[in-house]
Amino acid sequence: MTPPINVSNLSDSSQKKPILRALARMSCRRPPFWFMRQAGRYLPEYRQVRRQAGSFLDLCFSPELAAEVTMQPVRRFGTDAAILFSDILVVPHALGQTVSFTERGGPRLEPVASAEAVARLGSEDLEPRLAPVYETIRRVRAELAERVALIGFAGAPWTVACYMVEGGSSQDFASAKAWAYGEPGTFQRLIELLVEATSRHLLAQTSAGAEVLQLFDSWAGVLAEDQFDRWVVEPTREIVRLVRAARPDVPIIGFPRGAGPSYPKYVARTGVEGVGIDTSIPLRWAAEKLQPHAAVQGNLDPALLLAGGATLGRETERILRALSPGPFIFNLGHGILPETPPHHVAALADMVRAWQS
Ligand code: CP3
Repeated sequence: MTPPINVSNLSDSSQKKPILRALARMSCRRPPFWFMRQAGRYLPEYRQVRRQAGSFLDLCFSPELAAEVTMQPVRRFGTDAAILFSDILVVPHALGQTVSFTERGGPRLEPVASAEAVARLGSEDLEPRLAPVYETIRRVRAELAERVALIGFAGAPWTVACYMVEGGSSQDFASAKAWAYGEPGTFQRLIELLVEATSRHLLAQTSAGAEVLQLFDSWAGVLAEDQFDRWVVEPTREIVRLVRAARPDVPIIGFPRGAGPSYPKYVARTGVEGVGIDTSIPLRWAAEKLQPHAAVQGNLDPALLLAGGATLGRETERILRALSPGPFIFNLGHGILPETPPHHVAALADMVRAWQS
């Protein structure tokens, strides 16, 4: 396993950022927090910029507007991190696949369903095609307060392949799974292309100013165990190795949503500094099995944030009590739902800020 980040290597400016401290296993006065999908349709100021931008991809590729929506939740809620406003599907787009988003927000892709279709994709122009994303990062970095960390991200190969093969969202990603089971040799070519493209995309984000990287593996939980090892653990391990070889100072958070009992293996084999846990993971189990090896991030149910009220307070406290003794970043177990009232999010931010263990 790769050694963890050397705490004494944190620069003076990095030591002021609670998220970087937590990922380096240093003490924090209270757990740092941010929220997955903190920028998005639940915010009226996002909806306004989104209308102005035209399509969702136009917004992702407009540095001025993307930087503005990245900053909106940081200003409103005082989160400890900004997460780059972009999408995991900009990578297949940069590889030459046709990608669009429907009016209701769902992705549509021209499905990649054969070895020949994989061969038609290419990573030659990846960085130039994604240049607006890196420009967004430079703009956000210039605006951020010294305590706030900038998180760059990408989808992990398995999850991105799910959308590429299926051509959009799905309940079970049966076509991607059937290909992976039926013809693992050709599916492997798609995964290898994604490992290479994703590592380069993440490194370009760090060059532009991203200080933490998160790998979203939203569909890790649909795979049987041996398939999980091959399509989730191994590609992630390779990306961590490639990124760390060039940027050993940038911590990586892996989020294999739905990995259940495979979480400890995922952490041990990939070597991530942080691990995002979904809402189903028992807190005490996470404290015992995961926190000794990685900072844990999570895992409030987004539906509780939608509901608000006393239960939100109780559950938030339960999570803080269980996980704040170890290295911990407070977050949700998945993204904020579009119907969520922003004042519930503000109340949650206040609770976490006021927490004293
Ligand atoms: O604030 C942030 O979290 C940063 C931006 C961000 C978006 N997508 C913006 C977005 C991030 C980190 C993502 C990651 C992402 N994108 C994932 C992994 C996390 C997860 O939710 O599981 C996935 C699977 C995608 C692919 C994707 N993008 C889908 C399936 C959809 C449609 C469904 C949905 O949740 O809206 C999108 C669209 C999308 N990406 C929106 C936003 C704000 C909504 C579209 C709009 O505003 O019109």
